Amino acid sequence: MARRKKIYEGKAKILYEGPEPGTIVQYFKDDATAFNAEKKAVIEGKGVLNNRLSEFFMTGLGQIGVPNHFIKRLNMREQLVRSVEIVPLEVIVRNYAAGTMSKRLGIEEGTQLPRPIVEYCYKDDSLGDPLVTEEHIAAFGWASQQDMDDILSLALRVNDFLSGVMMAVGIRLVDFKIEVGRVFDGDFHRLIVADEISPDSCRLWDIETGQKLDKDVFRRDLGDLKDAYTEVARRLGVMPKNTPPVTKPTLIN
Ligand code: CDP
Repeated sequence: MARRKKIYEGKAKILYEGPEPGTIVQYFKDDATAFNAEKKAVIEGKGVLNNRLSEFFMTGLGQIGVPNHFIKRLNMREQLVRSVEIVPLEVIVRNYAAGTMSKRLGIEEGTQLPRPIVEYCYKDDSLGDPLVTEEHIAAFGWASQQDMDDILSLALRVNDFLSGVMMAVGIRLVDFKIEVGRVFDGDFHRLIVADEISPDSCRLWDIETGQKLDKDVFRRDLGDLKDAYTEVARRLGVMPKNTPPVTKPTLIN
């Protein structure tokens, strides 16, 4: 079989040319990185879990009419997705203060925000994905005003969907990041959710205990990342029913 053409290799995924024009194969690696790749590790099985979890969230979003790039899962580590022109923004939605927002504004982690807050970061690892305003986005032409309206609407719909799905299994959606991309139809384009949605790009806390079930487990050395992601998958019914629950008593905030 001819070797597939690699289009791009990122920190957690590899993209290959897909079988049809306009498609891409997204391969989930086991690599974990944090602090702009200053901290690195290989977490065996993470790619398999994120492939399944991203499939689960993107499929659910599709079912409620939120357009996204997912076409189908191909195997344990790969999914077929639509190719898009990525908007160079990380779109962050926050329901509770945490991470950089807590640091920047001195708000205690876990403080509920009066309403969801959407932030934009310019996607550039060499700059550390700096926070930008809509003024920067318009001035530098990264997205039009129509794009920004669509991005905000997508981000808030994803937030409502994910918050509800998570709450149903006893998990608080603290914040998350999405990326969006353009698909073209003649002279027109529309925006769809792309990249991945997984515990790598969300903050997920157990509602009862506050246990962290996301990449902060790795960032802050709070325990076994694979156990945390497996627990999310188990609660959502994404992994086989007989996966035993992870009962680690520690890891509170
Ligand atoms: O995660 P960190 O503290 O560096 O940044 P944040 O701005 O507090 O991140 C908000 C949310 O976006 C978290 O759920 C992060 O996991 C996610 N994020 C991401 O997935 N990728 C990035 N490059 C930055 C943030």
